[in-house]
Amino acid sequence: MSVISRVGRNAQPTTRVFIEMRFDVLTLFPDMFPGYFGQSLLKLAIQNGLVETKTWNIRDWATDNHKSVDDKPFGGGPGMLLMCQPVLDCVEAVQADAAQPGQVIMLTPSGRRLDQNLVTELATKDRLLLLCGRYEGFDERIRQTLQPMEISIGDFICNGGEVPAMLMIDTVIRMIPGVLGDETSNKYESFTDSGLLEYPQYTRPREYNDLGVPDVLLSGNHREIARWQLEQSIEITKDRRPELYEDWRERNPETPKKKKKR
Ligand SMILES: C[S@@+](CC[C@H](N)C(=O)[O-])C[C@H]1O[C@@H](n2cnc3c(N)ncnc32)[C@H](O)[C@@H]1O
Repeated sequence: MSVISRVGRNAQPTTRVFIEMRFDVLTLFPDMFPGYFGQSLLKLAIQNGLVETKTWNIRDWATDNHKSVDDKPFGGGPGMLLMCQPVLDCVEAVQADAAQPGQVIMLTPSGRRLDQNLVTELATKDRLLLLCGRYEGFDERIRQTLQPMEISIGDFICNGGEVPAMLMIDTVIRMIPGVLGDETSNKYESFTDSGLLEYPQYTRPREYNDLGVPDVLLSGNHREIARWQLEQSIEITKDRRPELYEDWRERNPETPKKKKKR
């Protein structure tokens, strides 16, 4: 747990609160976030003091009359780049807004690919600063100066870092104790403890358009149900994500035998 003071750039210090994790989003489009922050699990996590979120407009640190934050790349090329001064001044001010500066994360397609291992690693931090790029990205000296953790959400290009930042918050908060209603739900999901994909699940009704529910799930035999679920997870992972299956096999050389059908 960390002590965070809620102090905005122009705001007076208010109450000190204990929270589990704080996210600062540095962006040119802060208005994209209130809708996302105000819904579902994240809304509850904020209300319950488990998570704090704050957005900062990088443009507030622009110094010229036009509030410029970007310029053309030297050497030519399409588009514009975010300039060093407004970004670095913004990061410095945001870091100074709490007792500890936090981990700066640069959202960039060139970064380490986000996966569940990285999500788990990030969830151990008290404070993450998510630096969202726009246009053609950042002046390289921003990266050289900040030496941030660079993270990509996948091998594709988004218009900006805002959706990647939301995606990161969405995944990381699930690891914070108390955020999910039922803590075990995290444990049994795809990519988590077992490293396998999730088994199929069913809810009411028992029959839908001639499609039924596997008998074992209606049997009440919890050992058999657990065995079936593991078998399904193994088969699905083998079929859809062979590389994950191979990792799992290496860690679990004694694969449980599939139960013979009688
Ligand atoms: C249009 S992109 C710039 C792409 C850059 N010119 C390149 O080719 O790598 C603008 C911004 O969106 C964000 N972004 C785009 N795709 C991303 C991804 N896959 N992961 C994380 N951030 C991404 C980054 O912050 C990036 O600076």
